[in-house]
Amino acid sequence: MPTQTLSEATRPATAATDSASQSSHAPGWRPDSWAGRSAGQQPEWPDAHALAESLAELRRRPPLVFAGEARRLTEHLGRVCAGEAFLLQAGDCAESFELSTADQIRDRLKVILQMAVVLQYSAGLPIVKVGRIAGQFAKPRSSATETRDGVTLPVFRGHIVNDIAFDEQSRMPDPARLLQAYNTSAATLNLLRAFTRGGYADLRQVHTWNQEFVASSPVGQRYETLANGIAAALRFMNACGLDTDDSAMRQVELYTSHEALLLGYEEALTRTDSITGDWYDCSAHMLWIGERTRELDGAHVEFLRGVHNPIGTKLGPTATPQEALDLCETLNPGRIPGRLTLTSRMGAGNVAASFGPILRAVTAAGHPVVWQCDPMHGNTYATDDGTKTRHFDAILAEMREYFAVHADVGTWPGGIHLEITGDAVTECVGGGDDLAAHQLGDRYETMCDPRLNARQSLDLTFMAAELLGTA
Ligand code: PEP
Ligand code: CO
Repeated sequence: MPTQTLSEATRPATAATDSASQSSHAPGWRPDSWAGRSAGQQPEWPDAHALAESLAELRRRPPLVFAGEARRLTEHLGRVCAGEAFLLQAGDCAESFELSTADQIRDRLKVILQMAVVLQYSAGLPIVKVGRIAGQFAKPRSSATETRDGVTLPVFRGHIVNDIAFDEQSRMPDPARLLQAYNTSAATLNLLRAFTRGGYADLRQVHTWNQEFVASSPVGQRYETLANGIAAALRFMNACGLDTDDSAMRQVELYTSHEALLLGYEEALTRTDSITGDWYDCSAHMLWIGERTRELDGAHVEFLRGVHNPIGTKLGPTATPQEALDLCETLNPGRIPGRLTLTSRMGAGNVAASFGPILRAVTAAGHPVVWQCDPMHGNTYATDDGTKTRHFDAILAEMREYFAVHADVGTWPGGIHLEITGDAVTECVGGGDDLAAHQLGDRYETMCDPRLNARQSLDLTFMAAELLGTA
């Protein structure tokens, strides 16, 4: 994890107004200015008093990340903008309070480390690693309610709001969950910091990240060969008298991210940085706006335009070049490289037609953007029995189309954004094991969208690495 001195600690929003005037601020913005706009996807909390108590408690809690770490990520992403690095953003669709165990976190980290090293080794480029982790608890939904056998209840909105079980009590939005989300994020982040700083992510451990489920597959064998190559290169460097016991080898920088959906929660964790006086949303290093909440005059765009973290927004098939340009102007008026990531999630077969014009327009306008491909969310469908899935081939096809459009325009493809897990789940069909629709029930565990399992994640990464090699 990034390092930070204590002097850079942030202060609560309530104590910050005096320093606000010294720093670079978005005009008219306050941490709560979003409340004057229409905010989609917010739950109907049944108890306003309990909600206010939870938010007040969150305001008293320490920040989860430091402003200086977020700034460092912006710098790294600036290098992605310049075509000098590649962004890997990956993790759960929806994290679970119950499944945020040490083993689960470690296994997700292992896969992310494997994916990053495959990309880094193949492309010979630094990989900026951002997890959908330690805070990805809120989900946008297409309907506010869910009906089963004639019973209608509030829809499941992620563990930060309610529980997935289909009964009245579980589905009731519960503000105590905001604190549980904070606590689970803190515990997850703590373990990630220990793993990434304490030797587990040491490049010399490259073999140990290959957990049994992956190692026993063809893609696991392919990874072993690559890991052998890295080990040989390290031995060679040692033999040359070069120091491989350097912190660059021993430690990894893994940043956290989630969709900034529940604006009350995000506001409560927004603080001013004591060094710059700038506002940072200290719930994660990077925050993004989802496809359903990216209206220019909406509350989510209003909130994120004022925080200094690196931010992103998804762009789906209905996004127009003008909308993308307006988002660039509003979210990154200072044209700071690394500040804004635009994530294309168009669906296979749709990328040239829907994303191409956006890419051309933003490039022509000279906006520095980290481009990113989310090949997952435009390719979700339901099987005959109603199971939500994605086909590996469609995911791969969208990624290929995305790289092809960039090759055409002469721009840097930037990064990929994937929903993955370290487990041997059966949620997406296809891939190296050619998982069939009838096998989805074997181990279908996601609380929201279907994720690539560890083998499929690595399979896709090798293919991304090949595309990157020619980009
Ligand atoms: C997500 O990333 O889980 C998500 C809901 O994405 P999108 O906003 O692109 O649909
Ligand atoms: Co998702």
